[in-house]
Amino acid sequence: MKITYLGHASLSTEVAGKNIIVDPFITGNELAKNIDINSLKADYILVTHAHQDHILDVEAIARRTGAKVVSNFEIINHFAELGIEGHPMNHGGTWTFDFGKVTYTNAIHSSSFPDGSYGGQPGGFIIESAEGNIYIAGDTALTMDMKLIPLQTSIDLAVLPLGDNFTMGIESAVIASDYVECNRVLGYHFDTFGYIVIDHKKAVTTFKEKGKELTLLEIGSSLDV
Ligand code: NI
Ligand code: MN
Repeated sequence: MKITYLGHASLSTEVAGKNIIVDPFITGNELAKNIDINSLKADYILVTHAHQDHILDVEAIARRTGAKVVSNFEIINHFAELGIEGHPMNHGGTWTFDFGKVTYTNAIHSSSFPDGSYGGQPGGFIIESAEGNIYIAGDTALTMDMKLIPLQTSIDLAVLPLGDNFTMGIESAVIASDYVECNRVLGYHFDTFGYIVIDHKKAVTTFKEKGKELTLLEIGSSLDV
C-alpha cells in the first residue's frame, strides 16, 4: 500500500492495483499548486464529510475518471444529483470492495455543504487490505470511540489531523494513536490556513518522546505501509 500526500487532508492511496483518492481539496490549496488534478488516477474517491476543504475537487475527478464516490448517505445523494456514481455508507458499516474492506467510522465534527445544506454526520475510514490496514480519522476531535477500533482490527498506520482549532491538535493526536493502538502516524490537516499552522519539528518530537513515529510528508511525496 502506497500513500501519497496531496496536501491538506487529501491523499492518494494505491492498494491492490486500485487508486483511492481521499478528500480531494487541491485546486483551492495554494500549497498544492504543483499537483495537477487531471493527472490523478482514481478508481474510488473516499469523502469523510461535506466541508469544502474535503470535497472541492470530487466532481472534477469523478467526471474525468469515472471513479466511484464512497461516503455517507447524504453526500452520496448530493453527488448522485450531479450524475456521479457512489456507494452510500453510514457509521459502523463495512463494505468489501475489490481492493479491500472499508468501514465508515465515527468522527466528532460538523458536516454541511458549502451552501449550508446538510451533509450528514462526519466520519473517517478504516481501509483493511492484504497490503495492510490504515485508519484515516477525518476531521475530528479526540474521541473515546477511537478505542473501539483496535477491538475490531489492527491498524498499521493512523492518518490523524494535527492542525488544532478545527480538529484535534498534536497532543490529542498522540493520545488518539494510543487509543487506536498504532505508533505509526501520518499527519494531515495542517498548514493550509492560518488557523492550522503547526511547528513541524515540535510535532515530530512530541510523538518521538512517546515512542511514536510521526511522518509529515511533503506535498506530492509518498510513504509505503
Ligand atoms: Ni471539516
Ligand atoms: Mn477540514
